[in-house]
Amino acid sequence: LSPQDLAGKTVLLTAGATQEPWDAVRYWTNPSSGLMGACLALAAYLRGAKVHVVSGPQIPWLPNAIQHSKVKTAKEMYELVLDQADAFDIGIFTAAVADFSPLPFGGEKFKKDKAVSTPENSSALTIEFKANPDILATIGKQKKNGQLLVGFAAESSNLEFAVKSKLERKNCDLLVGNLINQENSGFKSENNSVFMQDRFGKSESLNNLPKTELAWRILNWLVAL
Ligand code: C5P
Repeated sequence: LSPQDLAGKTVLLTAGATQEPWDAVRYWTNPSSGLMGACLALAAYLRGAKVHVVSGPQIPWLPNAIQHSKVKTAKEMYELVLDQADAFDIGIFTAAVADFSPLPFGGEKFKKDKAVSTPENSSALTIEFKANPDILATIGKQKKNGQLLVGFAAESSNLEFAVKSKLERKNCDLLVGNLINQENSGFKSENNSVFMQDRFGKSESLNNLPKTELAWRILNWLVAL
């Protein structure tokens, strides 16, 4: 039997990549598979928690016993999560949320002959982007007593620095960072190598572990917190 050390707890978890539409067929996204989030959702469910996942369009299979709301955009994810802000004990924010969205071209498909010609490029296309709200930082600001927040950080360099600063800036209790440009780690990999630190300054590096095992260990840490 799995330990029921999360019995009676409600977990709200974001997972996967958001998709930000530009025209009728094109969108802005990233290669997040949602696997780390799905492993954490399953592990929390097995350990007795009531779990609600808010994910982007692509995420691995989850059992029906896990409540699952699918969204497309960062804004939709933001609104759904904020609606639940008072309704969870543990918030786990694994989603690779698009930090920016393209200003929509409109409902039609963009035709390439509309691209602007410049002296350097016969058909250049410039798209403007607007910043999306930071879901975790917003939830971190309004965190209530007794709520625990776990943030993630996908970095291409300076991992420890990023983990420590995001832990503070987003008012998290635990921050898990991984490098995306390394083998056996990050987007699309079944394994992950992470550096994590909690709000008391305790830290740990874990190298090349399956995401299933890593999820279990992250929950061990949360239970101890
Ligand atoms: O600042 P950065 O995007 O690296 O922060 C990563 C953490 O913040 C992740 O936990 C991610 O799910 C969360 N995040 C968010 N909303 C955003 C951007 C990131 O919840 N718009």
